[in-house]
Amino acid sequence: MARKQDRRRAGPEQLRPRAAHAVRWRFEDLPETHFLDDVLAGLSRPQKALAPKYFYDARGSALFEAICRLPEYYPTRAELALTRAHLDDIARFAGRGCELIEFGSGASVKMRLLIRRLQPVHYVAIDISQAALQRAVARLAREFPRLQITAVVGDFSRPIDLPRALGRRVAYFPGSTIGNLLPQEAEGFLHMTRGLVGRGGAMLVGVDCKKDANVLHAAYNDARGVTAAFNRNLLARMNAELGANFDLRRFRHYAFYNASRGRVEMHLVSLLRQRVAIGRHRFDFDAGETIHTENSHKYSVEEFQAFARDAGFTPRKVWRDRRALFALHGLRAA
Ligand code: AVJ
Repeated sequence: MARKQDRRRAGPEQLRPRAAHAVRWRFEDLPETHFLDDVLAGLSRPQKALAPKYFYDARGSALFEAICRLPEYYPTRAELALTRAHLDDIARFAGRGCELIEFGSGASVKMRLLIRRLQPVHYVAIDISQAALQRAVARLAREFPRLQITAVVGDFSRPIDLPRALGRRVAYFPGSTIGNLLPQEAEGFLHMTRGLVGRGGAMLVGVDCKKDANVLHAAYNDARGVTAAFNRNLLARMNAELGANFDLRRFRHYAFYNASRGRVEMHLVSLLRQRVAIGRHRFDFDAGETIHTENSHKYSVEEFQAFARDAGFTPRKVWRDRRALFALHGLRAA
């Protein structure tokens, strides 16, 4: 509901920077009712589950930014460091004057590094949150007044319809967001992107690597409890937006590395037997029962390259930080 109003209030007019290209906006159809439907379906399953994309309301996005600054959460810093260290090589791989398509909002320092170095003819940002996009592209438009920018409000877990290509397409998917998908979904996503970039196109994708489980454990169980707050914010969001009555004191954050599946799992554990209401629906929890809120898959270079091949890409490059915590893959459309 709020989304429709947002669209009216914040038209593209307000974003037009002085003496610069206007930001073009596109809106894919986003079903407005999905949050409630997904929650009801997810909590009805034997293993209760919620999709991680629902973490990112305004408070969730702010908490995620705080996570990225935590000493224990290495991925953001590792990816930035490897981008800085290998910028020339990355630019050579992507080629100047390409059309750069980012899955995500373009708010990051590494995106600005890439834009400065690559000089794309067109930058396209696709994000599910209009508010996040708005902030990011307004800033980019100010910083790069000559850059042509298109902002697409859409859910990239579904096929996206883009304007005609203005240059050789390079898709950029940083942050190991791809780790949220199940392996078969990740392969489907790579396949979709392969279609989107077309012949001669390429993809840059950031992937968190397999590593010592203690390092992973610390990254998702930070001492200050920011990750716990991020996880529990989902309960607060359901209370605020769906009229649920979760008592936040009765759920605890739980994250662990599931080695056999190669992923960190986040859950919310019910501390006691309880019943929760969402509108006229009721959900029962046993003591110790969990809601599975996130998977964060970790891939070795070989595992990820095998996926990329199956999806129609040729793996060409891998850039890593000095501690080999994180990898940026350079894939060419096969
Ligand atoms: C943004 C999905 C890459 O999986 O590490 C951070 C989100 N969850 N801490 C990740 C997250 C808990 C993050 N991704």
